[in-house]
Amino acid sequence: MAKRDFLTVTDLSAQELTDLLDLAAKLKRDHHAGRLEPVLAGKVLGLVFHKPSLRTRVSFESGMARLGGYALYLSNQEIGMGTREAVKDIGRVLSRYLDVIMIRTFSHAWAEELAEHATVPVINGLTDTYHPCQILADLQTVRENFSTVEGKHIVFLGDGNNVARSWMNAARRLPFRFTLACPEGYEPEPEFLQAVQAEAGDRVRVVHDPAEAVSGADVLYTDVWASMGQEDEAEERRKRFVPYRMDQKLVDRAGPEAIVLHCLPAHRGEEITDEVLDGPHSRVIDQAENRMHAQNALLVRLVAEPWR
Ligand code: CP
Ligand code: NVA
Repeated sequence: MAKRDFLTVTDLSAQELTDLLDLAAKLKRDHHAGRLEPVLAGKVLGLVFHKPSLRTRVSFESGMARLGGYALYLSNQEIGMGTREAVKDIGRVLSRYLDVIMIRTFSHAWAEELAEHATVPVINGLTDTYHPCQILADLQTVRENFSTVEGKHIVFLGDGNNVARSWMNAARRLPFRFTLACPEGYEPEPEFLQAVQAEAGDRVRVVHDPAEAVSGADVLYTDVWASMGQEDEAEERRKRFVPYRMDQKLVDRAGPEAIVLHCLPAHRGEEITDEVLDGPHSRVIDQAENRMHAQNALLVRLVAEPWR
């Protein structure tokens, strides 16, 4: 059977995505009941990092350990992707040692090149363009709170970044509404939006008025205003994004049942206030926990028990 990669949410069909979320929920229950099976015994995951991480590294490492496998952290200082060695050679060689590779890097093209040459599955652990593993955990969290994502309205305040793009990709597969409220000039690329809307239609919208966007939302989502690699734009962005800060006033407009998500790490007091991040609507710690369960489901499907 051909290997499967997970570079974007759209690498999965709607059915596969739903199956993955069902499996993630089961693995979470099994984990909390102390009865996770070592279904990845003898399997090795390599983790290639060009950017820092807390959640991604720890959730993949602990997830592999809990499923009986092993994970290996590879910093770029070690492997010098593109400088010490060609991406192509790294992909081919790592495939002889490992059963699955995760990469967190800048250019999405690097992740694609690695996947092209690796003969084992490659997982995108965040690129400048997409963060698909995050969205698996986010969808799991939405399901836990509302039992389904179907028909829910997710409102993302802030930058049209890798996380926002991945949410839009998810909307191409599952029938929820997604609204990005961002300052002008911070939308995802027009070609990408066109491709999304060709499949999701008006369930996906980009607007510029945060107050209008949040009214009646089920999920309020935000992320940092300057992503990793955009540090030199941080000051300018800090000025432009102030109206999009998730504060109590915006949360109150959404309604009493709304939940607040943030992929973390948060810049407290910038894109989200302490009051909201620590408040009763926030589900950010469950969301972070779900990174492990959602990725465990992904690893099981890519490595041990593939979709038929
Ligand atoms: N949300 C997330 O990907 O966190 P890390 O950058 O800490 O891995
Ligand atoms: N958009 C953020 C997400 C961090 C998990 C970044 O790329 O830095």
